[in-house]
Amino acid sequence: MQQIVVYPGSFDPVTNGHLDIIKRSAQIFDQVIVAVFKNPQKQPLFTMEERVDLLKEVTKELDNVSVDSFSGLTMDYVRSKKAIAIIRGLRAVSDFEGEFQMALLNKELNREVETIFFMTDIKYAYLSSSAVKEVAQFGGNIDGLVPDLVKKALKEKYAL
Ligand code: PNS
Repeated sequence: MQQIVVYPGSFDPVTNGHLDIIKRSAQIFDQVIVAVFKNPQKQPLFTMEERVDLLKEVTKELDNVSVDSFSGLTMDYVRSKKAIAIIRGLRAVSDFEGEFQMALLNKELNREVETIFFMTDIKYAYLSSSAVKEVAQFGGNIDGLVPDLVKKALKEKYAL
């Protein structure tokens, strides 16, 4: 049986930290679905289409990775894809509490699906989409933090 996993998130926009988690998951599992969540409570910088397109472009060399979007519960989406696990990345201790709560809640919703955490590569421990957006907005250097394509997209958004 194919081992399918779902990596859900906002990806507003995808960073090199996300990409590292995607690549590492793709080495372990048969299929990785990167799933962009349509959050009605958040006003993203990039539209859903832009976020999906950027992800598709930066993962195009990875044969067993696909990109999709979803709304509603992650666990319902995971079930619809017959996935065995949810992938999440962990950076600092401060990530732990929220991730712990989310993993327990998801376990409550479906006991058969695991949440599997990938510890960040130390290179990306300080990296987040929000931090990248803030640096980019004020014209700071984001080389090495995001793929070149994302850097270009951020420059266009902030008209730099
Ligand atoms: O990249 P993010 O913003 O940390 O991703 C958070 C995400 C999308 C994984 C999380 O908010 C989520 O799963 N939302 C979908 C709604 C849901 O299933 N909620 C119950 C679990 S917290």
